[in-house]
Amino acid sequence: MKKQFAALILALLPVFAFANEAGPELDHVDIDLTDKAAMQDGARTFANYCMGCHSAKFQRYERVGKDLGIPEELMLSKLVFTGAKIGDHMEIGMRPADAKVWFGAAPPDLTLVARVRGTDWLYTYLRSFYEDPKRPWGVNNKVFPNVGMPNVLGSVQGRQVIGCKQVQVEEHGKKQFDPLTGTPLTHEACDQLTVLPKTGMVNEEQFDEKVKNLVTFLAYSADPNKLESHRIGTYVLLFLAFFFVFAFLLKREYWKDVH
Ligand code: HEC
Repeated sequence: MKKQFAALILALLPVFAFANEAGPELDHVDIDLTDKAAMQDGARTFANYCMGCHSAKFQRYERVGKDLGIPEELMLSKLVFTGAKIGDHMEIGMRPADAKVWFGAAPPDLTLVARVRGTDWLYTYLRSFYEDPKRPWGVNNKVFPNVGMPNVLGSVQGRQVIGCKQVQVEEHGKKQFDPLTGTPLTHEACDQLTVLPKTGMVNEEQFDEKVKNLVTFLAYSADPNKLESHRIGTYVLLFLAFFFVFAFLLKREYWKDVH
């Protein structure tokens, strides 16, 4: 028994070792799967900027339209560029073998990527491309070093560079200020990303929002039934609350004469 226990501990060790491995720091994003406007915006970005290379082949246009409240005509005119029909899966024309030659790696299907990578990772990855003339596409990525994907949202975000700059000191996630003057305490940090002002189509906040919407769409796509489960869950809880009242009254009735 002891031996088995020891074996179990040993088997679990690599898991803990992995969990502690310091990967790149990820920015946290709160995803709201009830925010249909966000998902619609994300679906539009996905169709316009990602489906040139990535499919979402476990997902049908029709289902997406129904779940996100996008009417069929709008879906066909704004989201379908491949000549696909509304009942088709969200596939693309690019052949993986060609893609591998062009990009060094085939762009993976993205239907389930939010489950594989996590939403924080996606949110950080899509905002972490920076200029690097040594790479074939002139860009690199902080959370996915030497990535084969070009910076497809570069024109929207603007030119992002990496380097050293003054950043505000943080302790336990809280920004630190000088207690006497109230000015922010800063220190020099390297490997910091900066967007050059006025080089993008939107400002930084708007870009973060765009990416958040896109990640919300990908999170929905990885688990489309979650929307439905939430809806059913609400009814189940309402039913239980309603049922409780009658169960309680009935119990009182039964026990009324028992002393
Ligand atoms: C021009 C083609 C192209 C476009 C357009 C494109 N990608 Fe990519 N993407 C790639 C390639 C190639 C890879 C594989 C990179 C590698 O493995 O080095 C990739 C990888 C990824 C990955 C990493 C997948 C993983 O788990 O390894 C994600 C996430 C991703 N792309 C998301 C997006 C999103 C979101 C968009 C739209 C905003 C997009 N991509 C647009 C080519 C593209």
